[in-house]
Amino acid sequence: MLPGISTEVVAGSKMADLVIAGSGVIGLSVAFELLQSPGLQPARIHIIAQHFPGEEPISHEFTSPWAGAHFRPFPHRPESFGADRRESGYTRVTYKRMKTIAAEHPESTIEFMKGADYLEQPPSEYDGMSPGYNKDSLENFREIPKGELPPNVKSGFEYTTYCLNAPEYLGFLQRQVTALCKAKGVELCFKRMTLRSLAQVYEVVPSCDVIFNCTGLGLQLDGSYDPSCFAIRGQTLLLDVPHKTKFAAATVTHQGRDGNWTFVIKRPPVGGKPAQYILGGTKQPGDNCVTPRDMDSHAIMERARALYPELLCESEFSVARVNVGFRPARNGGSRVELESASPGPVIHAYGLGGMGYETSLGVAEHCLRIYRGLKCQRSKAKL
Ligand SMILES: Cc1cc2nc3c(=O)[nH]c(=O)nc-3n(C[C@H](O)[C@H](O)[C@H](O)COP(=O)(O)OP(=O)(O)OC[C@H]3O[C@@H](n4cnc5c(N)ncnc54)[C@H](O)[C@@H]3O)c2cc1C
Ligand SMILES: *[C@@H]1O[C@H](CO)[C@@H](O)[C@H](O)[C@H]1NC(C)=O
Ligand SMILES: *[C@@H]1O[C@H](CO)[C@@H](O)[C@H](O)[C@H]1NC(C)=O
Repeated sequence: MLPGISTEVVAGSKMADLVIAGSGVIGLSVAFELLQSPGLQPARIHIIAQHFPGEEPISHEFTSPWAGAHFRPFPHRPESFGADRRESGYTRVTYKRMKTIAAEHPESTIEFMKGADYLEQPPSEYDGMSPGYNKDSLENFREIPKGELPPNVKSGFEYTTYCLNAPEYLGFLQRQVTALCKAKGVELCFKRMTLRSLAQVYEVVPSCDVIFNCTGLGLQLDGSYDPSCFAIRGQTLLLDVPHKTKFAAATVTHQGRDGNWTFVIKRPPVGGKPAQYILGGTKQPGDNCVTPRDMDSHAIMERARALYPELLCESEFSVARVNVGFRPARNGGSRVELESASPGPVIHAYGLGGMGYETSLGVAEHCLRIYRGLKCQRSKAKL
């Protein structure tokens, strides 16, 4: 049980009870933004989840603690233009909010820095002008002159972005939600349980008004499972790098001709500890192997030895941990929408794949716009 937090079931209340299913970066971001939106506070917020931040060992069914995490913008692809445009919009809302949060809360670990992408075989939309990836929509965006590019790289781009320490940021969000509830007189109940379906929420919180479905990939147990969802396995290495490198101030992504992506993401430190770095990674759709695979680690280190030799400590990588996480992907893109059917209104927010952090606060804003509309509709219906 989480310290100092009630997990009691509140039955039969007439006041508004709001349920968030899922306590990953999406569920917690919805709660965090909700509590800062005038006029939206319910009497009680219930966050129901199988896993919460801070648990050790970290479950492989819980994606958020395993992430990098950085913001890597992407040009809209012709084959998924609509979904890309919507998700790219989420990233821009998130970017703005991350700036404010970084300034107000250094303990959030959000750190703004340079981002660089190097591509050996750039898809045609990586021309530096396409929507989502150009100087009008990114700060300090520039195409890197050919003469400055590493060997074999056809094109490279730079922009301002941010990195954050995923497990620490989740703890920060959870503490903020707790503190904001206290300050605003909203009762907060964290409840640890594995839901079989969203209908089961009504057994636990009979007075539930609305459910936010922020369950990532997890709710697959009954007939309401969305068949478009699938997992993309990601194996990465957490590195200690005690000496000074450029990666303290820059996150770099390299796309190889063989289709492999090799990236370095700083994990900004807390409490005076040295920074660590995420070196990745794999993108393996349909691969559900939860144990780290030596073959994958070796392939990542082999690529990084050539691309990022600065990360070596006396000719070896100093690996603190091997991570395996599963990105909650969805064919057709993420689902952020209202479903008004029984058992009651559900606002879905899942399927963010490999971009749950960089879209999180934009997804939350979209959810809250839907929620505001729903509240308006209801108060009109009462008249
Ligand atoms: C290797 C790797 C690197 C990544 N790098 C980045 C990056 O650089 N930038 C970025 O933006 N994103 C990155 N991501 C993606 C990001 O981690 C995910 O998009 C994000 O964590 C998804 O968050 P979520 O809240 O939707 O899901 P989750 O974090 O999985 O949370 C789901 C929540 O729902 C709960 N739940 C699920 N099912 C049930 C159930 N039946 N009953 C009760 N509770 C349930 C879980 O317990 C959990 O609390 C990366 C991912 C991986 C694996
Ligand atoms: C809720 O989210 C899950 C993904 O975790 C999805 O499969 C499901 O269809 C969504 N809706 C309901 C009603 O469970
Ligand atoms: C590139 O990716 C493939 C498929 O994931 C993998 O089998 C191969 O080992 C990788 N190559 C390198 C050099 O990492």
